[in-house]
Amino acid sequence: MMTERKLKIGILGCGPIAQFTHFESCQKAKNIELYAICDRAPDLLERMTAIWQPRKSYPDYQMMLEDPAIEAIIVATADAFHVPLSLQAIQAGKHVLVEKPLSHSLAECQQLEEALAKNPVHFQVGHMKRFDQGIHFAKQFISDKMGEILALKAWYGDNTQRYTMTDNLQPLPIKSKQAVAPSVNPKADLERYYMMAHGSHLIDTASYLAGPIGSISAKLRQKFGAYCWFVDVEFENGSVGHLDLTIKIRGDWHEGFQVYGENGSVFAKTPNPWFYKSSEVDCYFEPERQYYRPLAADGFSYRLQLEHFADVILHGVTPWGTNLKEGMAIAKTMIAIKRSIAESRPVYLDQITEGEL
Ligand SMILES: NC(=O)c1ccc[n+]([C@@H]2O[C@H](COP(=O)([O-])OP(=O)(O)OC[C@H]3O[C@@H](n4cnc5c(N)ncnc54)[C@H](O)[C@@H]3O)[C@@H](O)[C@H]2O)c1
Repeated sequence: MMTERKLKIGILGCGPIAQFTHFESCQKAKNIELYAICDRAPDLLERMTAIWQPRKSYPDYQMMLEDPAIEAIIVATADAFHVPLSLQAIQAGKHVLVEKPLSHSLAECQQLEEALAKNPVHFQVGHMKRFDQGIHFAKQFISDKMGEILALKAWYGDNTQRYTMTDNLQPLPIKSKQAVAPSVNPKADLERYYMMAHGSHLIDTASYLAGPIGSISAKLRQKFGAYCWFVDVEFENGSVGHLDLTIKIRGDWHEGFQVYGENGSVFAKTPNPWFYKSSEVDCYFEPERQYYRPLAADGFSYRLQLEHFADVILHGVTPWGTNLKEGMAIAKTMIAIKRSIAESRPVYLDQITEGEL
């Protein structure tokens, strides 16, 4: 019997996201070997090595990059380090899966463009919601059956009781006082932090389903510690959209979307990702006057994104994860939202050539 060749991966960062999902995703993926792990915090590295048993563990990133057996790197570090550490991996000729959001800065994204032009490795941003099989089913329905899109509404609401839920679902993260942290605490500016952490997911899902965003017009309200962005969108294909990003809803996790098209429509409800359950999706198809509703039993979207990443590299499968161009468009959209709020006017993405969040 033929056994499938496995992609040898090195994970950079042994912090919460690696512990919650990347180690386990590598262990369970059909086409990946967790070959190496790396963290500058020696206590964390030692404990994670004991648990996950990679072949190698490195206290230094450059040492890991110099290991010729490693084919690809998962960059699982704080946002501020995503681009500089991805650049090092690209320069070492390694394929890269970098955690979301790609970046807050267009100048950084341009550096990545230049590096990838010189070293054309596979580069994917970790917007794993595309690999939610319910969302992917909706995408297929939209592309193959729904015809022209009229409008998309998408919403993403983190809630006050979120940690009551996720503390039960996730293992307790093992922390280290020696972990490398960004010089500025990302949570010092919550408006920016929420947009980067959550808004990036919402923007990725909307543009995955309805195509590139052309312009936006945004409003933000802050009251009683809650933040609500309402963003009117025009997509490049002429359809309209509305994005609702609300953080600290007094209620349940609130995520989903609705799409109206020529031959049908889609309604989807997305659970908090740590339930590892796919979105519930109803796709109505007018010519048959019936709904399609996938079971999408495999809800481990983080593992599915990794398996796709490996399939692209090992078997030349056409990539459909978030690429550099799309990661950069998300950065642009986040900057456009900020500008639109500050200047109370619509902002066209093609007019944004520089800047940061
Ligand atoms: N996709 C999702 O649903 C999701 C969910 C949560 C977090 N995230 C993302 O995951 C990323 C990481 O989050 P986290 O909470 O695990 O971060 P963290 O900062 O707590 O942990 C990162 C680890 O990387 C190590 N590290 C950083 N730079 C290093 C270097 N140069 N060399 C060696 N080790 C280094 C640190 O010591 C630390 O242990 C963030 O960008 C976050 O947005 C994604």
